[in-house]
Amino acid sequence: MDVYGIIGNPVEHSLSPPMHEAAFRERGIDAKYVTFEADPDRIEEAFRGAEALGIDGLTVTLPFKHDAFEFAEPDEQIRRVGAVNTIDFTESGPVGYNTDMTGTLRAFEHHDVALEGARTVVVGAGGAARALAFGFEDAGADVQIANRTASKAHDLADEVPGATGHELEDLPDLMADADVVANATSVGLESDESVAPADAWHGDLVAFDAVYKPLETRFLKDAAAAGAQTIDGAWMLLFQGVDAFETWTGEDAPVETMNEALRSHL
Ligand code: ATR
Repeated sequence: MDVYGIIGNPVEHSLSPPMHEAAFRERGIDAKYVTFEADPDRIEEAFRGAEALGIDGLTVTLPFKHDAFEFAEPDEQIRRVGAVNTIDFTESGPVGYNTDMTGTLRAFEHHDVALEGARTVVVGAGGAARALAFGFEDAGADVQIANRTASKAHDLADEVPGATGHELEDLPDLMADADVVANATSVGLESDESVAPADAWHGDLVAFDAVYKPLETRFLKDAAAAGAQTIDGAWMLLFQGVDAFETWTGEDAPVETMNEALRSHL
């Protein structure tokens, strides 16, 4: 039997176990997907232990994505993001991926939203914003970053080729000329607030929210009310899992099954 798992702290409410177990069942793969709540002071030991135990793959969540980046050998693209959320324990050693980034791009593809040449606005400058900004840039989009602490938006923009940094106050102006607006802040998480003013939305925008609790955030509700297309945060969660599954097993992921398993637990 193969063993996979998610490592984080806290991790008990993770939706990854039902999603991956449904995928393994559907594909007839004899595998278990376990939750590991690791001690932050012993995270490197935990990664080495997982490798020594012969664990096949790990999903890495907060607060260990940077530790995973240092532990697992990431490729060039991921080296820029500075975070790893998926480890594949291969015969030649642990390999790190960032399927938050690649999965988000697949979520856009799934919704027939082309990012190449699109004018995108990423709101936020934390870990989620980094994955989105590098992902959008990689997909050929024009990237603008707006953040409450403007200096952090400028710092991130300096790292992403061609990107520009802005204050949050500029968001309505940026939205007026944009094709895609992505919320990568924690605003809206278990609250009815939005980081974007309701009257800044218009029907030519695509709204993406990395927050998935609730699924229908104020950000997405305001966007939909103005006629914008919306992509909720569960799509990012789904496709990061889809990409991880395909990396680990080499098989096509059962996307519909994983989506149903995920949404039935939300
Ligand atoms: P993550 O790694 O999940 O992205 P994070 O690094 O804590 O989380 O980043 C949270 C983001 O949400 C930041 O961009 C933060 O803005 P600051 O850099 O100014 O702190 C943003 N954020 C959190 N609360 C906010 C609020 N009330 N209004 C606007 N932005 C907020």
